[in-house]
Amino acid sequence: MRGRGPGAGGGRGGYCDNSGLDMATPPNRWNAARREESVRSKTGGSLARYARAQKSLAGGVSTALRRSARPSPLYFERGSGARITDVDGNVYLDYTLAWGPLILGHAPEVVNRAIEAQLGKGHTFGAQHDLEYEVAEMLCRAIPCADLVAFANSGTEIVQVALRVARAATGRTKYLKFEGHYHGWDDSVLVSYRPTRQQIEASGGAAIPVGLGQRPGREAVAVEWNDRAAVERAFDEAGADIAAIVCEPLLCNSGCLAAEPGVLAFLREISSRHGALLIFDEVITGFRLALGGAQQHYGIVPDLATFAKAAGGGLPLSVLAGRREYMGLIGEGKVVHAGTLNGNPIVLAAAKAALEELSQDDGAAYRGLWARGEELRTGMESLLRTAGLPVVAAGGGPVFHISFQERPARTYRESMAADTAMYSDFALALLDEGVLVLPDGRWYLSTAHGVNDVEQTLEAVRRAIG
Ligand SMILES: Cc1ncc(COP(=O)(O)O)c(C=O)c1O
Repeated sequence: MRGRGPGAGGGRGGYCDNSGLDMATPPNRWNAARREESVRSKTGGSLARYARAQKSLAGGVSTALRRSARPSPLYFERGSGARITDVDGNVYLDYTLAWGPLILGHAPEVVNRAIEAQLGKGHTFGAQHDLEYEVAEMLCRAIPCADLVAFANSGTEIVQVALRVARAATGRTKYLKFEGHYHGWDDSVLVSYRPTRQQIEASGGAAIPVGLGQRPGREAVAVEWNDRAAVERAFDEAGADIAAIVCEPLLCNSGCLAAEPGVLAFLREISSRHGALLIFDEVITGFRLALGGAQQHYGIVPDLATFAKAAGGGLPLSVLAGRREYMGLIGEGKVVHAGTLNGNPIVLAAAKAALEELSQDDGAAYRGLWARGEELRTGMESLLRTAGLPVVAAGGGPVFHISFQERPARTYRESMAADTAMYSDFALALLDEGVLVLPDGRWYLSTAHGVNDVEQTLEAVRRAIG
């Protein structure tokens, strides 16, 4: 296999990579050179805009990961349902869904109407209004751990609120996280996220910062996902200082790696045993695996949970949900939680409309999401395997991950065996065939993706394989 090799850092779609921008790629089964030429020939408008943007906007993009698009970041004009149209008029079936938020697809009518209705009434009040408690009540009904909720604007922010609450509740300062899990870009949590092998070897077990300029944090204790013994050891060594365990209950950011049977229950038990809080970071899994998120799907209830992405139906909303005894610290003003735009009425109008849509017909939206997603995931896996490729299709239904490696990974380190350069070529071929996917192997489904879209996508996969 023509992999970049473990630890080379290329093509993983992480912050420190150049994501397969390998201009010297030799001819291969995906015809990468021809595909690249073909995409470039029909995306001239995007290429010109990117060149212009780089002169005024740092990196030419609004968030670093978007630079990793191959051959070059595209510019889009409109999105509708499962499709997105670029400035050159190319229409793509979209499985990026803005990196996850668009659970109902692009510009769903119900959300549009709700936003339009609110627009005329005011954009932000910096004060109370009915949508706040209406959405809060819906969230408390839907999310198992939610006695109370609090609003903010981004996942990064809300994770910080969760950790602050955990520190306040326990009087401790450290937290335990898992390698490969992403919890936003704040210094305190942007550690041990997709480190290279060299970094792991050099770290001596300490949490590894991702980029320059980060304060050297001492709060994070990082261990491998699915390694119960390492969690036990961490609590044996530092249990009296650990305020919380934080995890993505399905590790979507590094390959959709599931917790092995019993691991989430183990994390629930060991955190309680040591007086630490269990925090599920449901920024991706929330409103995606089920209306009540991974905690509903897996039946394990954390003390606190963070939500963003799909929570706002495409608008910037994040939510902290949790048990009354912890959320009460915010309620009593002992833990500071602030933000000028928190509870923005336009955002909450969108969230209310999206939640109503997702709650209808006793979970019909989720039955559809899972059915379509599984048809696509297993269909693609079968096509790639029949072509003789060593494919792993991890996760399921509403969010899954395709990688080229021999065996399913249990941990981030095992996921490093994947041939990321091959995936990048595959993604490029799909783009040329009219299917837009993320550079890191993650695929998101929306309720707008129908049976015909799945068939059209599988047809594109067949053509990409050749
Ligand atoms: C699991 C998880 N937590 C937190 C975040 C940070 O969210 P945001 O990008 O809204 O700051 C992300 C973003 O991708 C995420 O996937």
